[in-house]
Amino acid sequence: MGHSLSSFPFLSLYTFLLVLPFQTFGSSRGLDGNSDAAGICAAAVAVRGYECHEFDVITDDGYILSLQRIPQGRGGGGARLPNRPPVLLQHGVLVDGMTWLVSPPEQSLAMILADNGFDVWISNIRGTRFSTRHMTLDPSTPEFWDWTWDDLVFHDLPAIIEFVFKQTGQKIHYVGHSMGTLMALASFSEGKLIDKIRSATLLSPIAYLSHMTTTLGVLVARAFVGEITTIFGLAEFNPKGEPVSNFLKALCTDPEVDCYDLLASLTGRNCCLNNSTVELFLKNEPQSTATKNLVHLAQTVRDGILSRYDYGNSDFNEEHYGESKPPIYDLSKIPRDLPIYLSYGGEDALSDVKDVETLLDNLKLHDEDKLHVQYIKDYAHADFIMGETAKDIVYNQIISFFRNQQ
Ligand SMILES: *[C@@H]1O[C@H](CO)[C@@H](O)[C@H](O)[C@H]1NC(C)=O
Ligand SMILES: *[C@@H]1O[C@H](CO)[C@@H](O)[C@H](O)[C@H]1NC(C)=O
Repeated sequence: MGHSLSSFPFLSLYTFLLVLPFQTFGSSRGLDGNSDAAGICAAAVAVRGYECHEFDVITDDGYILSLQRIPQGRGGGGARLPNRPPVLLQHGVLVDGMTWLVSPPEQSLAMILADNGFDVWISNIRGTRFSTRHMTLDPSTPEFWDWTWDDLVFHDLPAIIEFVFKQTGQKIHYVGHSMGTLMALASFSEGKLIDKIRSATLLSPIAYLSHMTTTLGVLVARAFVGEITTIFGLAEFNPKGEPVSNFLKALCTDPEVDCYDLLASLTGRNCCLNNSTVELFLKNEPQSTATKNLVHLAQTVRDGILSRYDYGNSDFNEEHYGESKPPIYDLSKIPRDLPIYLSYGGEDALSDVKDVETLLDNLKLHDEDKLHVQYIKDYAHADFIMGETAKDIVYNQIISFFRNQQ
């Protein structure tokens, strides 16, 4: 039972760790923590000398998502590839598209891709600061926050991919980090979007989540899905808000919990982060998500299988799915000829090596020449998006992988 309760603390502590040193957080900030509603292009891209365009994408359930496009290299330069293949960067949970832009341009995947001739698109899922809008729902109501990653699979991702496909007239190279990989794997297993995707790059993939490591295990029994939902309701999980912050502080009073070493115990020992980059990251993140989304992720940790949200009793499940149990995402159904680049780290505490092996086992019948797997012994979760060495170790390889799909 202890194990089954494990997931939520891991997610909360992750946010806690990001929030604690920055209690003065505003609700909406630019790259330097100052500019407000200007948007990601103005705050983080144009200031570095890159052309950048803001778009709104409306999902079929009414959410208005912000999307950025960096169509070419710095100062209009960069490599000239025919047709500038589009690449979509999809961030993980509790962060937004800004995570791709906190490193200096020479180290940021988004800008490196733009400089190498790709047409770069950055998405921001529902609930993140630039995507807190809806056609009819007010973000201050629980209805706005009634969603899980199922909805990202069935509504956000299709809307975004459709939009980029229409704008560019080309199939898309998809790049996901963390929950961004889960969204893609679940979509592709349902046969969705495949016809508009050229390849998928999965950084720190999370699909299976049952091998969360060490310190987190200690926290297991402290909090659980039922308790969380009574504290917060099934509404917004705002890591900057007081209820969340008080809850997390309470967790930290436990002598067994080392709140000073949370970064390491949560994301793993990132080998290669630069202090200024981390500071910039912390000025911009974390972002809100739906409590229900975290509960769903928690179920994934608990159950060790990938399925849709479990409403907790067979009648409710029946009502939503016409079955007493939530339908399963069968990853072995991902088309075997889809080019996949998967990169994972030996020090990653969230995307544990054992869980990645389970994922790879699901892909064991994948066409051999379509599946590229990279294991980086020293890397933990954040190294893949902010590591100073990521360009040499990961991004250059991704670019070669893309070029081989032309
Ligand atoms: C960290 O990044 C900053 C800003 O890009 C840079 O000035 C500094 O030299 C870097 N520090 C190290 C140790 O590389
Ligand atoms: C990194 O930044 C933190 C907070 O600003 C500071 O306390 C720490 O000494 C810095 N570490 C290094 C190695 O510069």
